[in-house]
Amino acid sequence: MALLDKHEKIETNVILMLVLVLITVSIGGLVEIVPLFTIQSTIERVQGVRPYSPLELTGRNIYVREGCYLCHSQQIRPFRDEAERYGHYSLAAESMYDHPFQWGSKRTGPDLARVGGKYSNAWHAAHLTDPRSVVPESVMPPYAFLATRLLSGADIAAHLKTNRVVGVPYTDDDIANAAADLEAQGDPNADHEALLARYPKAAIGDFDGQPGQLTEMDALIAYLQILGRMVDFTDVRPEDLRQQ
Ligand code: HEC
Repeated sequence: MALLDKHEKIETNVILMLVLVLITVSIGGLVEIVPLFTIQSTIERVQGVRPYSPLELTGRNIYVREGCYLCHSQQIRPFRDEAERYGHYSLAAESMYDHPFQWGSKRTGPDLARVGGKYSNAWHAAHLTDPRSVVPESVMPPYAFLATRLLSGADIAAHLKTNRVVGVPYTDDDIANAAADLEAQGDPNADHEALLARYPKAAIGDFDGQPGQLTEMDALIAYLQILGRMVDFTDVRPEDLRQQ
C-alpha cells in the first residue's frame, strides 16, 4: 500500500513528476554519452585505408561537383544480395577520409563503392564520354567535356591542407609534393616510387587516352579506380559475407 501511496503522490504532482522524469532521462543520457568522451574515434581502424592521392582527391571533387552521388551510392549494405553483386559490404573506415562522405541513398545506377579495378581505364574513358557506346541501354548522361578541361594543380596543395584541418592525416611531405604527385600519377613514364610509397595501390596511367595532358577526366578515372581497393578482402571467406 505504501508503494501505491507514493505512486499516487507522483502522479498527482506535476512538478514532482517532471523533476523525476528529468532525473531518469539524464541518467539514460549520461550512460550513453559519457563513454564516447573516453574513446578517440568511433570508427574502427582498418589496415590499408589511406588518404586520397592528389589526383584521386581532385577526381573526388569533380565527382561531387558533377553530382554523381545523385544517381550512385557508395555504400554496400550488409545483405546477401548486395554482397553477391558488389562484394564485401562497406566498412565505416573505408570512408573515414571522405569529407563529405559519398554514401548516397539513390541508385539510378549501380553502387560504386567497389568499382575500382572492375573496368579498364579505356572503358571508363569511353563510358564517361558516351555511356551508350559501351552500355546501349544506359540512361547515364555523357561527360565528354571532362576530357577537354585541363588540370593546373595550382591549388592542390591547398586542398590537402584543408583536408588536414578536418582530420585527414596528410603530412608536410604529402603537401609539399602534392603538385608533383598529381602530375606523376597521370604520366605512365614518370618515376612513381615516391608516389606509391605515399599512396599505396594508386592506379597509374594515362587514364583518358590523351597522353601529355592532365584533364579532369584523368582525375575522375583515377578516383574511380581506387574505390574499394584500399582494403584487402582476399582473406575474407564468402561465408563471412553470408552470415549477415
Ligand atoms: C542520371 C543518373 C546518373 C548520373 C548523374 C551518373 N550516372 Fe553513372 N550510371 C548511371 C546508370 C543508369 C548506370 C548503369 C548503366 C551504365 O553502365 O551506363 C551507370 C553506370 C556507371 C558506372 C559503371 C558501374 C558498373 O559497376 O558497371 C560508373 C563507373 C559510373 N556510372 C560513374 C559515374 C560518374 C563518375 C558520374 C558523375 C560524373 C555518374 N556516373 C553520373 C546513371 C548515372
